[in-house]
Amino acid sequence: MPQEQGYWRYVEEKAVSLCQRYSYQRIDTPIMEAYDLFIRTVGEETDIVQKEMYLLEDRGGGGRITLRPEATAAVCRAYLEHGMHNLPQPVRLYSLSAPMFRYSRPQAGRLRQFHQLNVEAIGDADAAVDAEVIELAWRFFQELGVTGLSLQFNSIGDGRCRPEHLRRLKEYYSRHRSRLCPDCKGRLERNVLRLLDCKNESCQALAEEAPRSTDYLCDECQDHFLSLRRYLDIMELPAQANPKLVRGLDYYTRTVFEVQSPQEGAQSALGGGGRYDGLIQELGGKPTPGVGFAVGIERVIRYLKSLEIPSAEAPRPTAFVAYVTEDAKDEAVRLTSQLRGASINAVLATGGRSLKAQLKQADSIGAPYTLILGDEEVRSGTVVLRDMAQSTQESIPRDQVVERLS
Ligand code: HAM
Repeated sequence: MPQEQGYWRYVEEKAVSLCQRYSYQRIDTPIMEAYDLFIRTVGEETDIVQKEMYLLEDRGGGGRITLRPEATAAVCRAYLEHGMHNLPQPVRLYSLSAPMFRYSRPQAGRLRQFHQLNVEAIGDADAAVDAEVIELAWRFFQELGVTGLSLQFNSIGDGRCRPEHLRRLKEYYSRHRSRLCPDCKGRLERNVLRLLDCKNESCQALAEEAPRSTDYLCDECQDHFLSLRRYLDIMELPAQANPKLVRGLDYYTRTVFEVQSPQEGAQSALGGGGRYDGLIQELGGKPTPGVGFAVGIERVIRYLKSLEIPSAEAPRPTAFVAYVTEDAKDEAVRLTSQLRGASINAVLATGGRSLKAQLKQADSIGAPYTLILGDEEVRSGTVVLRDMAQSTQESIPRDQVVERLS
């Protein structure tokens, strides 16, 4: 809506300038993608694939397509299709205000069409790149003036060490099956990692004592995690290790992180991301590491509003152009057009109202100046310039108007 646009521009401008400062280049991928792209990457057993993805039948036997639920898989597809592995690595990419689609019961902070700032660094496994991406995410909020957020991170290991952690988790939760919520009883078989993330009170209590991924990391993952912690310290980021942090997408390996608002509930994550070293290989490419995050723009704006952080103001006209007669109106149309051509924000009075009503309109629009044209002004090539705050006015030559208002 128009009254929200100031927030959107504010958030978008911060995002663009920050991404440029970190040498990320913009990429825009299509809204429609092959349905299977996300099954293979986000994961068959995730909420996104099970409950939230839109499924469309393409015409002419073109197969199953979807409205993208997230950007990472699509950006990796583009990386492969456009031979970006030939560029210097890592390839740093961001997308902005890209609409994503997830089916759910619409509620505050959870929409069926929403927008993300999405950031990916593809082609480098170094933990310093994870730290760079986490710092970028945190700075984004800092520079928006947002306070009160927490930054949490964890390592969930990789294909070598995670199976052992999952086995221990399954064992642990099976022993306490009766205390699990009905949803988690189902997830226990399909996606046991997600149990750590359940908001149900009894499941949360169980998660406190559950086996921790960081206790099962293989040597390589352990080294990576230690390096990441060291870099986050060096960067003086207020990041807290959270052994219960897991994410809702299956492609993550090693690092995961989230930025959370203090507002309770499932919508508390303003942004999140992590490393996905197996994703590109899953799409048919050579093994290629990657790391990134996404921030939900609607959630950020909602939070900005709750903190009463004002947005940029709507554009305000400098000049309101009023006229007294129909003949003068032609001249007013010309003058308004000339002002706009000279980069001056000008608005023409409309609706054939009396001069008094037009001046009232000028006041309500908030233009600091009104230009008034009557028959006399048309004849003499002048215009009345009224300073709205001072309630003073003077007659000036038409050819001086632009100079006076610039
Ligand atoms: P995600 O956690 O699914 O991660 O989404 C990131 C952010 O998008 C969330 O923190 C939230 O702010 C916003 N979001 C998600 N779903 C909705 C919704 N239904 N309504 C409003 N906002 C929503 C990803 O999408 C990963 N692709 C992030 C990533 C990039 N990981 C690596 N690179």
